[in-house]
Amino acid sequence: MPTHALPAPEEVAGLIAPLEALEGPLLPMLHRVQETYGYLPQTAHDPLCKAAGITRAELAGVISFYHDFKDAPQGRHVLRICRAEACQSMGGAGLAERLLAKLGLDWHGTTPDGRVTVEPVYCLGLCACAPAVMVDDTLVGRADEARVASALAEVRA
Ligand code: FES
Repeated sequence: MPTHALPAPEEVAGLIAPLEALEGPLLPMLHRVQETYGYLPQTAHDPLCKAAGITRAELAGVISFYHDFKDAPQGRHVLRICRAEACQSMGGAGLAERLLAKLGLDWHGTTPDGRVTVEPVYCLGLCACAPAVMVDDTLVGRADEARVASALAEVRA
């Protein structure tokens, strides 16, 4: 289980050192750090730049390019709301607005108690049952507020 403690730069340096010999080591290093801490803490930036031989600006570019990399701790549960076409045409945008308002969040936001993070996704492969959302690993088709609330309750979010 990843923790959200802020690690010392030396600890991160030790964690990624074995990967330095790889060709193109940056992505494996980023994955290793995120798997360990649950996100990419600020204290990991300098060791990553040093090990990969890149600037902080280059690192920021890579982190923002890949949506899977998180620069802040995630909630214990992730609610992914589909924003692709089929779901949009079936009321997905309105549903997303209502869910975000209910949770008091913006996209990528996490509730203050750390329960839920909301992420946009672009097709969950459930277009025939649009609008679709996903609560952790559970897909919810023909989603509405009640079905999402029930899926969140099932994971005790
Ligand atoms: S468009 Fe939403 S699941 Fe495919």
